Amino acid sequence: MRFLIAYATYSGNTKEAAELIADFLEKAGHAVGFHWIGAERTPDIAHFDALILGSFTWAEGSVPEEVKDFILDVGYKPPNTFIFGTGDTQFGGDALFCRAAVKLARFYESPLPPLKIEQSPRGGQEEAVRAWTSRVEERAGAGIRMSN
Ligand SMILES: Cc1cc2nc3c(=O)[nH]c(=O)nc-3n(C[C@H](O)[C@H](O)[C@H](O)COP(=O)(O)O)c2cc1C
Repeated sequence: MRFLIAYATYSGNTKEAAELIADFLEKAGHAVGFHWIGAERTPDIAHFDALILGSFTWAEGSVPEEVKDFILDVGYKPPNTFIFGTGDTQFGGDALFCRAAVKLARFYESPLPPLKIEQSPRGGQEEAVRAWTSRVEERAGAGIRMSN
């Protein structure tokens, strides 16, 4: 399958999570495209079978403006969309932790709950990333294609 991993990052945590997800998908034989939201022109989503969208959380549980612009640029809600996020529980505990990812998963009616990572995914959280990515693979394979 062809996956597009689109991610927003300021300090690199969400990029690291995106790279880890890509590693797992590529090792499983999938093609992966990368898009850094806000830094590059939005690609044509219809060239991919599934969208994996990653975002940090900002300002009391907010979705970053760059991610909202990306959503509007894409212009429709691809059905096969999976969400991951990085956050930090120091910014408001469980209620606000990775709240952007929770909001995005609800907005896209994602087939899976969002993956939530506390800051960098390296180390102890890698296994959670691997397990979530493997569920994405299963669900994306079973899902309908995204071209509108
Ligand atoms: C001003 C500010 C507000 C933040 N608010 C939240 C928040 O409400 N919830 C949360 O889970 N993380 C919050 N964070 C933490 C970031 O989402 C977290 O550090 C994230 O991993 C950064 O991603 P990046 O390295 O990809 O830019 C906040 C960070 C900053 C600097």
